[in-house]
Amino acid sequence: DWTMAAFRAEAIARIRAQVGTGKVICGLSGGVDSSVAAVLIHEAIGDQLTCIYVDHGLMRGGETEQVVSTFRDRFNIKLVHRDASDLFLGQLAGTTDPEVKRKTIGRLFIEVFEEEQAKLGGADFLAQGTLYPDVIESVSATGGPSVTIKSHHNVGGLPEHMRMQLVEPLRDLFKDEVRALGRELGMPEAIVGRHPFPGPGLAIRIPGEVTREKVQILQKADAIFLGEIRSAGLYDAIWQAFAVLLPVRTVGVMGDGRTYDQACALRAVTSTDGMTADVYPFEVAFLSRVANRIVNEVRGINRVAYDVTSKPPGTIEWE
Ligand code: XMP
Repeated sequence: DWTMAAFRAEAIARIRAQVGTGKVICGLSGGVDSSVAAVLIHEAIGDQLTCIYVDHGLMRGGETEQVVSTFRDRFNIKLVHRDASDLFLGQLAGTTDPEVKRKTIGRLFIEVFEEEQAKLGGADFLAQGTLYPDVIESVSATGGPSVTIKSHHNVGGLPEHMRMQLVEPLRDLFKDEVRALGRELGMPEAIVGRHPFPGPGLAIRIPGEVTREKVQILQKADAIFLGEIRSAGLYDAIWQAFAVLLPVRTVGVMGDGRTYDQACALRAVTSTDGMTADVYPFEVAFLSRVANRIVNEVRGINRVAYDVTSKPPGTIEWE
């Protein structure tokens, strides 16, 4: 792509001019934006960049390993992987209010990030994968929940005392342009084409209290759903798809016995920007296949429902 090749060259020149011989730290989330920003900055300044991946233990199954190996092994980027799952799950114990869950995760995220950054001896610049829509939303009075939604890791999310200069090479781009840039940089489709994933991760897909056991159950159901979506060739036609573990137990039958286990909901939507969304119209046969697999393969779930609510009035996430 000619445009992206030109953008890439210009962006690299701009990053070099801004950073000079300074040290840059980048918070990696595993999402498209921070990943593309990191690879682009690495191409510009190499080992002057260190990425910090704060692992809250609330990622999809296997995703942390994929992110870590992609950045370390494939791109040779210096990466600190801090497993903070005990801390996050410990502090989330007993918490059921969605906003408190979000705030707890946001606060811990910053605390852990700061700790890791201090261990590295600080830096001159902080890199962020801020996109054009993030810039607009953060100054728009009508941005609605997205202003707070992204508060903990996007525009203006960091406290005053982390007063580093920002490096934001994607500020002029929309999501589809970031994906095109990622492809231009040779990044794997698994990262570049990945669905958006919320900062608080699976915590907001487990209404009620989050426990490690529930996270593991949800990861299994979610992996089955996403695996079936991929095999059916539907992944790219969907904006986001995921499972939600409900705090509801229902009665079922399995063999000769009665079960009394948790229910799960599946959610899949189409959207162009996440501000509005429509339900993805799967065939019932597809949904039954997924439901059968989940109930048969995931211990702890005995019922599956499909969420057909559009946004508005629903939100994409359940919390
Ligand atoms: P909702 O649920 O508000 O979500 O319709 C809209 C989009 O934002 C994502 N989302 C979040 N992203 N931190 C994030 O980084 C959050 O706290 C958060 N909450 C929702 C959601 O996945 C969807 O893409």
